[in-house]
Amino acid sequence: MKTAKKVLSIFLAFLMIAFILPVFASAEETVLQFGTDGKFQIMIFSDIQDDFPVEETTLQFMNEALDKYQPDLVVYLGDNSTAMGDENEHKTIESITEPCVSRNVPYAIVFGNHDGERETSRETLLDYFQEFGCLTTDADPDIYGCGNSNLTILSSDGKKTAFNLWFIDSNAYHPDPEVGGYDYVREDQIQWYKDTADALKAENGGKVVPSMLFQHIIMPEAYEAIYPRLPFKIGKDYTIDGTTYFPVPFFNRHAGIILEPCSPPFVNGGQWDALVETGDVIATFFGHDHVNDFIATHEGIDIVNVPTVGYQAYSDAISRGAGLITLDEKDLSDYEYEMIYFFDMAREEDSKLTEVEGGRSRIYYSFVRFFRKLLDGIHNIFLPKEMER
Ligand SMILES: [Fe+2]
Repeated sequence: MKTAKKVLSIFLAFLMIAFILPVFASAEETVLQFGTDGKFQIMIFSDIQDDFPVEETTLQFMNEALDKYQPDLVVYLGDNSTAMGDENEHKTIESITEPCVSRNVPYAIVFGNHDGERETSRETLLDYFQEFGCLTTDADPDIYGCGNSNLTILSSDGKKTAFNLWFIDSNAYHPDPEVGGYDYVREDQIQWYKDTADALKAENGGKVVPSMLFQHIIMPEAYEAIYPRLPFKIGKDYTIDGTTYFPVPFFNRHAGIILEPCSPPFVNGGQWDALVETGDVIATFFGHDHVNDFIATHEGIDIVNVPTVGYQAYSDAISRGAGLITLDEKDLSDYEYEMIYFFDMAREEDSKLTEVEGGRSRIYYSFVRFFRKLLDGIHNIFLPKEMER
C-alpha cells in the first residue's frame, strides 16, 4: 500500500511539473538558425512602456502579429516596462513576454532610458526577463550599461555563423546636468563591440560577419543623415558636439514619417564611426521616439526608427505597430523591412483588435490607413523609386 502511494505521489509530482510549470526551451538550448527556405525573420516590439496590467490592445496586437507572421526571433527594443516596485515589474515582464513564451518564439531585449529608472535596477529586470526565457545576457558586467550582448544566427545547413545581431545598452540620462539630455554609448562598450566583432571575424576565416544592431536611443548621426546643418545655435536640443541642426528633416533623405525631432544624446561617443570602421553592420534599429517610423541611410548603414507597439505610452495611430525584418541567407548584404501596422492588423477578418478594451471600430482603422497612405503617397513624390513606401 505504501509503495502504491509513493508511486502515485511521484506520478502526480511529474504531472505538476509537466503541465503546471511554464514550458519553454531554455535560453542555453536555443539555437538561432536560418530556415530550410534560407529565411530568418525578426519582429520588433518597441516602447511598450507599460505597467501591470498591460493594455489589452497592446497584448492582443502582439499576439495577432506573432500568429500571422511567425517570426524566428522577437526583439523588445527598450522602454519595455515602467512598473513601480519589484513585484509589479516582474508581473509586467511576465505579461509582455507571454506572447513569445506561449508560442515558444525566442526573444531578446535591449533596455531604454525608462527601464530601471524607478525602484528596480536594470540588472534585476534582466534577471526577470531571463526567468521567462530571454536570450539576452550581460556579456561583460564590468562595462557600462546592462545587456550589451550579441546573438549569432547559423546558416540553414548549420555549418557556419551566417549573421550576427548586436544588442547595445544606450544607457539612460547623461550624469552631468551641464551637458543634460540622454546618455551615450561609452568607450568601453564600443571597445567590447570592436573586440567581439574581431573575434567573430577571426572565426569566420577573416571575413566580417554581416550584422544588425539594436539599441534604444538613436545615434547622433541621424541628424547628420537627415537634418540640415545650421550655422548658428537655436537652443540646446538640436546641438550635438557643437554642431546645430534645423529640426525639420530633408524629405528626400528618409522614407516613412518623422512626427517628432529625433532625440539622440548631445554627446557623440564615436559609436557610429566604430561601426563604419568595422564594416559589419548593415542596419541599425532604434526605438525611443515613439511616433517616428522611418528609414534613412548614412555612410552605407541604414538607420531605422521603429515606432511604439504600445497603446499606453504616447503614440500615434498612423505609426503604431511592429517592425519586421526578413533576412535571406543568399544575400546578407541586404534585407527586407516592413512595418506591421496596428491599423492593418485591426482590419484583418479574424482580428479581435476592434473588440478588446481600448480598441476602435474598423471604420476608424480604415480611415487611419487611408490617411497614412495619403501621407506616404505625397512623401513618395520627393523620393527616389527604391526608397518609396
Ligand atoms: Fe519610450
